[in-house]
Amino acid sequence: MNGFDLSPAEVEARDLARRLAEDVLRPVARAADEERRFPADAVRELARHGLLGMGLPTEHGGLGWDAMQTTLAFEELGRADQSVRGFLTVHCSLVSQCLAGAASGEQKREWLPRLASGEVFGAYALTEREAGSDAGAISTRAVREAGGWRIHGEKVWITNGLSAGLFLVMATVDPALRHKGVTAFLVRGDAPGLRRERIPHVELGHRASEHAVLTFDGVQVRESDVVGEVGKGFAVAMGGLDHGRLGVAAGAVGTLQACLDAVTSFARTRRQFGKRIADFQMVQERVADLSCDTDAARLLTWRAARMAVRGEPRTREVSQAKLFATEAACRWASESVLLLGSRGCSNETDVERHLRDAQALRVYEGTSLIQRIVIAREILGREEKHG
Ligand code: CAA
Repeated sequence: MNGFDLSPAEVEARDLARRLAEDVLRPVARAADEERRFPADAVRELARHGLLGMGLPTEHGGLGWDAMQTTLAFEELGRADQSVRGFLTVHCSLVSQCLAGAASGEQKREWLPRLASGEVFGAYALTEREAGSDAGAISTRAVREAGGWRIHGEKVWITNGLSAGLFLVMATVDPALRHKGVTAFLVRGDAPGLRRERIPHVELGHRASEHAVLTFDGVQVRESDVVGEVGKGFAVAMGGLDHGRLGVAAGAVGTLQACLDAVTSFARTRRQFGKRIADFQMVQERVADLSCDTDAARLLTWRAARMAVRGEPRTREVSQAKLFATEAACRWASESVLLLGSRGCSNETDVERHLRDAQALRVYEGTSLIQRIVIAREILGREEKHG
């Protein structure tokens, strides 16, 4: 496909995810979105097939899939249900894979098998009301005390936040230090002083995901719950996003493929003015351009995934993939609504959900504007500060 040979192990991963997306996610996706209900039974079924541990090594109970295999899986899952794909990207990439890289041996032994089996869901708590794109400006505070720390503050828009059993929480030991004060902590879901509520507004898309406000009212954590070093949590957070943004890009490729599938099948069967609408050149032009953008987004995403497999630095390539794929998904979900006409304007078909979900893809895990900053800095570098 697309001039890339997939290995037998990659094809196997893709096919398993495709089968589960079709048999388990697609039948419930529309109703879950409509009812704003996290499809817990469907997620349990994915866990039964090992998908909640897909990117973790087998020694920790995972499937041992590499970044190319997980990328293929996220595309397939995103094609059917972006809410569940989003759940999994946070659980598997932002939390599990981040911990597999940055956590201590003891932390890995305690948490990774439970994350891999789905006994515990993971959530990543960075965003605050006044610190979204400016992640170094977080004000959730960690105050040292005998044997550990106490955390005070609030996080918003935390995906998986209602049912997570483990939070990777970024807090600052001194806000004046900006990103050099940020420290990453593991917080148990049942920690006294931790309160979670659903966000007070109705989301534009990803309505079957859980988005929570977390309040930390003097939550106690042990010294051994610090991930990495005190004051080095910003790099942990950014490293997690390097994994997560690749999953978002792959999810956006799934949306593009879903749009191409929907438009192709509609254009072949819908008749107007005495012929198939597929025979009008304006429709053909759009199908041709949509297919080019779908393949271009996929190739950028697969390039970043292959670099991840080889362990190469890839911050720029991941951001390029996320930027291009999510922007293309927004454009083409909108065009797909147009092409499907009245059928695109209600949940009679899935394209209206793709249109709403795609908007969030270009916002979360770093907006398209932030991705451009990351890419430009990687290319242009930054001026040396003197004095
Ligand atoms: N890996 C490791 N380290 C990194 C890094 C990376 N990818 N990117 C930056 N760093 C390091 C830098 O090297 C620098 O280190 P030194 O202090 O040693 O020099 C340090 O981090 C600070 O970097 P910057 O000077 O570039 O920091 P900045 O304040 O200018 O911000 C930014 C950079 C790219 C704008 C960053 O703040 C950013 O990515 N913002 C967007 C945040 C985001 O994506 N939020 C989404 C949260 S998750 C979510 O969406 C919710 C959910 O539940 C899904």
